[in-house]
Amino acid sequence: MAFDIEMIKKVYEKMPDRVAKARELVGRPLTLSEKILYTHLWDGTPTQAFERGNDYVDFAPDRVACQDATAQMALLQFMHAGKEKVAVPTTVHCDHLIQAKVGAATDLKVAETQSSEVFNFLSSVSNKYGIGFWKPGAGIIHQIVLENYAFPGGMMIGTDSHTVNAGGLGMLAIGVGGADAVDVMSGMAWELKFPKLIGVKLTGKLNGWTAPKDVILRVADILTVKGGTGAIVEYFGEGATSMSCTGKGTICNMGAEIGATTSTFGYDDSMRRYLAATGRQDVVDAADKVAEHLTGDAEVYANPAQYFDELIEINLSELEPYINGPFTPDRGTPVSKMKEEAAKNGWPLKVEWGLIGSCTNSSYEDMSRAASIVEQAVKHGITPKAEFGINPGSELIRYTIERDGIIDTFEKMGTKVFTNACGPCIGQWDREGADKQEKNTIVHSFNRNFSKRADGNPNTHAFVTSPEMVAALAISGDLSFNPITDTLLNDNGEEVRLVAPTGDELPTKGFDVEDPGYQAPAEDGSSVSIAVSETSQRLQLLDPFKPWDGKNITGAKLLIKAFGKCTTDHISMAGPWLRFRGHLDNISNNMLIGAENAFNHLANKVKNQLTGEYGEVPAVQRAYKAAGIPTIVVGDQNYGEGSSREHAAMEPRHLGVTAVLVKSFARIHETNLKKQGMLALVFANEADYDKIQEDDTINFLDLVDFAPGKPLTLEFVHADGSKDIIMANHTYNASQVEWFKAGSALNLIAAGRA
Ligand code: F3S
Repeated sequence: MAFDIEMIKKVYEKMPDRVAKARELVGRPLTLSEKILYTHLWDGTPTQAFERGNDYVDFAPDRVACQDATAQMALLQFMHAGKEKVAVPTTVHCDHLIQAKVGAATDLKVAETQSSEVFNFLSSVSNKYGIGFWKPGAGIIHQIVLENYAFPGGMMIGTDSHTVNAGGLGMLAIGVGGADAVDVMSGMAWELKFPKLIGVKLTGKLNGWTAPKDVILRVADILTVKGGTGAIVEYFGEGATSMSCTGKGTICNMGAEIGATTSTFGYDDSMRRYLAATGRQDVVDAADKVAEHLTGDAEVYANPAQYFDELIEINLSELEPYINGPFTPDRGTPVSKMKEEAAKNGWPLKVEWGLIGSCTNSSYEDMSRAASIVEQAVKHGITPKAEFGINPGSELIRYTIERDGIIDTFEKMGTKVFTNACGPCIGQWDREGADKQEKNTIVHSFNRNFSKRADGNPNTHAFVTSPEMVAALAISGDLSFNPITDTLLNDNGEEVRLVAPTGDELPTKGFDVEDPGYQAPAEDGSSVSIAVSETSQRLQLLDPFKPWDGKNITGAKLLIKAFGKCTTDHISMAGPWLRFRGHLDNISNNMLIGAENAFNHLANKVKNQLTGEYGEVPAVQRAYKAAGIPTIVVGDQNYGEGSSREHAAMEPRHLGVTAVLVKSFARIHETNLKKQGMLALVFANEADYDKIQEDDTINFLDLVDFAPGKPLTLEFVHADGSKDIIMANHTYNASQVEWFKAGSALNLIAAGRA
């Protein structure tokens, strides 16, 4: 479990020279993001300045982290790469496969039985290849990373889009697909387009009901789910340093919701306090020696408009609590406007559930502030109107808040304490009555609130807000309740006003835990064997994808033209499908079943051009595959936003889709498609999306000349024989073109050519 202080010191040793060199090459002061990026160049000391938003650059991340749902496929791929041990410190965390139903003790046992095959597989692969393994119930990946591994100035990647959470400790932590993780675990460089930079200047100070969560809810409202695409968001200013480290983690965590590559904060006292409280004084001592490099240059923060591609300013003293949703995390409503907005939009006012915790808001500060609201309700004799649940982020947090009586306080309100795991945040919630699909409202302090995400019910209106606001709204049972101005009636009919939350940034008695749930890997794993049954429904060893045959793809059929939002949840749904994350053929039966067909506006109903009949997307695609006919998928804006799961790319690849042509891509998904040897293409002219018809047959006219920077020409032949020529742009560089040619990036690694 021990973090690698020697590795951290090595990063700090190279930092001063590399930062100085980068400053000289770039010819101006540097942001923190640039300092970390230039320190982690794969080729060592910088020799050139990179153009933001344009140059692809090879990096050498310090760490890798994988969660259980994505780790299965990542480790199956890593096994395929033929290495003895992982090349950089790596951890696996069992957090996604545990359903929330009755409460922690029972739910964990059920999960351990139901998913024993997967947990055993992950444990033995970790043991063999030198990977730290966090058992089911130990906690959620990002909370554990923040508590144990994140360090200022570091760079890490993780197979989960909320890896970005570690920015709260001044890292550049980036969510990637399993294939990228495999590259780094195999000792290869990790490639990223040099990001653009968005500066967020925080002035003033949080007060009253406002929490760090409101900062990111406001930023999401301003930037929208696409606003951060291709950019690092760097927070600075007096408002930043006045916030707790874990509050910074919450803000960075939800940077995923604006599509940002990652988010980060400069090293400050809040980080020193958090590192010391989590047993890492030696990281503080090492970081203090290079502290000037662990934050942006003073000139940058004095004149930010000159140095960032975009600048946002938020005055924390004036910020109101926000409630974002439903169905998208960027629809922000300040609490004072909720009455009006809810009435205007017909959102159900009755709050049925309040959920706190998750990787986003599980800190001691979050729990103690939410508990301070619950305490008031108990003291004033107010019976809460909604049900209440908690998913603590780690055993360290759970044990400490239990010791300090915080869990007791929650339980006085009938709160269900679920396992230290993702639970409802990833659809692992056996919510009673959800199958009736009734229109209802829930509030939570998680990060995502796409339709169906929490309980599978498309009519659940999920709103994201701070833990303290979740507590207040759950107690009132009313979405339009504004605790700043409104009163509640207690059980005696008396009016009660809740006072603003209070809490401790860190436990005054320190953190404590009995069994954190960690398994260290074997020193020598060569004798550890890994068994995968051929009849397993959960795990399937991989066969390499076939290389490209060097010819133009012709006669391809349109599988689906997706309309509107098509996230990785729509492409490869989570919830019950999580159990097949290690079995490519089985999980492919969920391919694109959530996407809306632009021709009939229905989900999972597309035309099979071979029969003229309509069928489910995976079944229709399997019919094309059986007939040896390639297909393409057409999509709308920001296609593939959301989680980093590479299944959303591997499933179409496995079932025979050859290309995905969209108005725009979310970054991680675009890279995932490339890694799996698919064509990720973007309409040169967005309006051409409207020319695509349901019965189209597609011919690639110049794929044989596929090369960086050269658009591809596609011929769409319509049912009446007419044709449209459509130009498709792409962002493949030379090595990514090789991935396509080889059939996948992994094929190149296994062949030793990458
Ligand atoms: Fe888990 Fe939800 Fe975080 S799925 S990793 S708690 S975003």
